[in-house]
Amino acid sequence: MRLPLQVRVRGRLLRSKLIPGWVRQRSARLSGFSREYRLVGYSDDARSQISNRDGWQQVPVVARQHAAWEHLLESLAAGDTPRVDVDNLRVAAFRVVSPHDVVLEIGCGSGYNARLLTSFEPSVRYIGLDSSSAAITYARRVDDAMRLVAANALRLPLNDRTVSVVLDGAALLHIPRWEDALREECRVASHAVILHSVTVTDASTTAFLTKRAYGYVVPEVVIARSDLQAVLDGCGFVVDCVLPGITYDLEPAIGIPTVSETWVCRRG
Ligand SMILES: C[S@@+](CC[C@H](N)C(=O)[O-])C[C@H]1O[C@@H](n2cnc3c(N)ncnc32)[C@H](O)[C@@H]1O
Repeated sequence: MRLPLQVRVRGRLLRSKLIPGWVRQRSARLSGFSREYRLVGYSDDARSQISNRDGWQQVPVVARQHAAWEHLLESLAAGDTPRVDVDNLRVAAFRVVSPHDVVLEIGCGSGYNARLLTSFEPSVRYIGLDSSSAAITYARRVDDAMRLVAANALRLPLNDRTVSVVLDGAALLHIPRWEDALREECRVASHAVILHSVTVTDASTTAFLTKRAYGYVVPEVVIARSDLQAVLDGCGFVVDCVLPGITYDLEPAIGIPTVSETWVCRRG
């Protein structure tokens, strides 16, 4: 599929060997595509204020995100060392995904994680789910054989324990009612839930913010570690391991120290 010119130029710049690797990595995730962080607050009022930011519904966001990841996938195929979050996905899959498992990705975007997962375990049966119709349409254009569902993580159209593993693909941090989404993910997973690239803080309170991602405003949640643990406990899931992810400290922007992590959780 041919990407829009602007997206191809940006992707080419990101691939340029003239730019140091760490700058390329950082710019793809933070300064390049995520900026203008704005702390809205900690209350339910703050939660509802960020709920109407619909950047993920925009076609250019999906296209730009796809281009950024296309670059990462190409560099992996060329034998480059995987970026830490990509490697985390590999380690997480190794720990909880078995051959022929059905893996449901929540927040699949254009579906590039399907390519990563099947490169780690080719027999995996992948299903991508996203609430953005732009994402699902784009993913279908990329690979019309991919199994895709347009649905909201808050109301998964699946019976209890019907997929082996749920992979939350960096969606939870963009869902203001993240607790309800996580309960849904745990409900439909028979075996394990991978919370990939979740933004966590050691502060005691979960915070609600907005940021500009790939040019459009989206909601973001910095989840208090204790809050995340409490929801998992309530769902009967135990944390198998926590993998540190890319550098993602939002303290300079919003005053709250944060990290990005991948949590691998099993049904207890
Ligand atoms: C940061 S992108 C992640 C893309 C990809 N999975 C990855 O790991 O890079 C977040 C995705 O979550 C989706 N999303 C946000 N809220 C959602 C919700 N309530 N239900 C399902 N998907 C949602 C967005 O549309 C977007 O495609």
